[in-house]
Amino acid sequence: MDFTGEVALITGAGRGIGLAVAEKMGNLGAAVVLADQDLPTAEAGALAIEGAGGRAMALAMDVRRADDWQAVVEEAVRRYGPLTVLVNNAGFDRPGGVAGLGLDDFEAVLEVHLTSCLLGMQTVLPVFAQAGQGAIVNVSSIYAKIGGQGEAAYSAAKAGMVGLTKSAAREMAHQGVRVNCVLPGLTDTPAIRALMSEKIKAKLLAETPMRRMAQPGEIANVIAFLASSEASFVTGAAWEVSGGWNM
Ligand SMILES: NC(=O)c1ccc[n+]([C@@H]2O[C@H](COP(=O)([O-])OP(=O)(O)OC[C@H]3O[C@@H](n4cnc5c(N)ncnc54)[C@H](O)[C@@H]3O)[C@@H](O)[C@H]2O)c1
Repeated sequence: MDFTGEVALITGAGRGIGLAVAEKMGNLGAAVVLADQDLPTAEAGALAIEGAGGRAMALAMDVRRADDWQAVVEEAVRRYGPLTVLVNNAGFDRPGGVAGLGLDDFEAVLEVHLTSCLLGMQTVLPVFAQAGQGAIVNVSSIYAKIGGQGEAAYSAAKAGMVGLTKSAAREMAHQGVRVNCVLPGLTDTPAIRALMSEKIKAKLLAETPMRRMAQPGEIANVIAFLASSEASFVTGAAWEVSGGWNM
């Protein structure tokens, strides 16, 4: 894979999977824009990439806000030239089962994962279409396919991202723009370390044939591949990276 001359915007890039994607693409020659609501973490990530010889900058953004999308894309283009890659990765969770889920919690989760994904695509697709090229990778979850007990809003949002990905892929293919998504299984990130009990982790790993979590870099490898020209005939794919959790 070679990202020389590419400009990649990655949301939620301050830590976890997003940071691993930024590092991977930065190492492969892309100028990377690390966007996160937590600016100091994104700045630390950008510094590390630059320290390793790459080109990177950090920008504060809330993926729920259309004006933030506009500002971040404008700044990325001003600094590095036309954007060629978008990775919609920012996320969070509010667990809850279908029966007891509050509408506020449901809508909050949908907004961060699904609405933001739409906003991001609406912002960059005209730019990509005009250039006649571009690749988007949306970070969904294996729960999009199998559902998660006590994860109703999250599973619905992640399934919505798959539908959005496939619709955009159909609409944009003739303009040289590819849109794919990845469906990670349990991945060893700060979110999982902070929020998931050892008991639930053990239960999920028992359902995972490879019996371990992914490292963020293992998810980033697939995201980078789908965004790269090596995947030039891949669009509308929902690629599971789950250690066999769902087959
Ligand atoms: N870790 C897993 O097991 C796992 C599995 C499947 C899918 N995913 C998905 O992968 C993505 C990354 O997950 P992670 O585990 O690395 O999470 P993480 O919590 O470690 O990192 C998420 C990043 O997103 C940022 N963020 C959150 N809300 C934001 C907002 N509104 N605007 C801008 N930035 C925001 C956070 O500040 C953080 O830096 C998420 O979409 C998550 O749903 C994770």
